[in-house]
Amino acid sequence: MYAAFTTLSRIRQMRRCNSPPKNLFLQASPPAAALGLPIPMSSAQTTAILEPDIHRIGREILARARTARPAPFELGWWQDRGMAWANQHQHLREGLFRFISLLPKQRASADVARVLRENVTANGDDLPFPLALAVDFVDDHSLHARLVARAARFAAERMAHSFIVGSTPPEAVAAVTRMRRRNMCFTLDILGETVRTTEEAEHGELIHLEMISALAQAAKDWPQNDQTDVAPFGILPTVNVSVKLSALSPDFSHDIAELDLGEVYRRLAVICRAARKHGVAINIDLEHDSLRAATFDIFKRLLSEPDLRDWADAGIVIQAYLRESRRDLDDLLAFSRRRGVPLAIRLVKGAYWDYETNLAAKHGRPSPVWSQKWQSDANYEALSRVLIENCDQLRPAFGSHNVRSIAHAIAAADSRGLPPRTIELQALFGMGDPLKTALVKMQQRLRVYSPMGAWVPGVAYLVRRLLENTANESFLRQSFLENADEDQLLLRPEQSIAIRGAE
Ligand code: 2OP
Repeated sequence: MYAAFTTLSRIRQMRRCNSPPKNLFLQASPPAAALGLPIPMSSAQTTAILEPDIHRIGREILARARTARPAPFELGWWQDRGMAWANQHQHLREGLFRFISLLPKQRASADVARVLRENVTANGDDLPFPLALAVDFVDDHSLHARLVARAARFAAERMAHSFIVGSTPPEAVAAVTRMRRRNMCFTLDILGETVRTTEEAEHGELIHLEMISALAQAAKDWPQNDQTDVAPFGILPTVNVSVKLSALSPDFSHDIAELDLGEVYRRLAVICRAARKHGVAINIDLEHDSLRAATFDIFKRLLSEPDLRDWADAGIVIQAYLRESRRDLDDLLAFSRRRGVPLAIRLVKGAYWDYETNLAAKHGRPSPVWSQKWQSDANYEALSRVLIENCDQLRPAFGSHNVRSIAHAIAAADSRGLPPRTIELQALFGMGDPLKTALVKMQQRLRVYSPMGAWVPGVAYLVRRLLENTANESFLRQSFLENADEDQLLLRPEQSIAIRGAE
């Protein structure tokens, strides 16, 4: 079947080569090698051939998404504006995020008031007048300070919950059931990364097992949805769970030099075996770069176990912001070929950019991540094409809210003649809802990364989302709040530096 797709795509490409479309974006951009990027598998010409389709698909996504934006009476509208405001006040933004990350450790209102004063009031010059007045207190024990502290905690919790599908297992099951009715599938993420004790790791394992079994039970009542559950290569598990290995052992942590892999391996093996028994798919998340090699190692060792080596419902992540990501992808491809069973690969840009960049600077060593946003975007496209070219062996999922990146993946799959929904698109719960609606209307297969749990163990996840949403280069803000010009939003990453400058 795939040989037929390849032939068809060659014919299409030849047709396009015979009459190259006149397009501004066909103008030469610097070759990848000159930009210090990995050489993409496809030639520069093949990439250029995709541009008209990328623009056509990108325009359709933007047009559909822009009609599905939240209205001023909806919480999302206010949240979007809050994020845009934070972006314009960088000092205060940092203070606010420090406040939120310290909040879970504060029990008494007076302690919350102190952390608020130290991090927010100290940067309060940028606050709008009524808020500046509210946080202007000196005595953390005063009634005023404690009331403000309570309101601040309430607001932080409210915001956290907009990124969480449910606090309890029944809430999470109900939320993903509703999601499926809207033609979206899900991958459940159980909040609670970077555990500090064996008890927490034990809890991490148990809650994963509990959720696998609860979701598998609920799935018995879900009607099959052809848009989300049926791919050209077969029927997909309706339940999909993402696992962060740092939730399974205190020894699997980015803070220590020597990783002890025994505990995390044992716990993950139990989770994967339970998943297989229940027909549930597991996707391993990638976290900090210091955990990357060990994560791949565990994944490959586990999938080589006699009872798991033919399991087809396992996957892992590739982070395109890493300079090493092309090597990792090639390695997974070789592993998948040796094993003879396809692997699911979620391609993301990467969520720990600030952390990796700051850590490398602190230790005076080269950063593992590209320094410029456009470099990650360009690498994402190069890796997307590798995935699509090898989708007999890898099951690609594209996790991104960037319309250019999404349109590129769809166009690349189309140009190879792949049937609709061979590739999967993924987006995060609570982010880019108009974009999700647009992709579903376009009959794409969309999976929503859906965190569940309490916001206290989820605070690191929350801060990553806030960093993304308030970053200068936030694609969602530029696309849907600032109404940036479509041509600019859909520019090739290499060309966007000429327009927007280095980000
Ligand atoms: C994160 O936890 C979505 O896995 C990604 O930030």
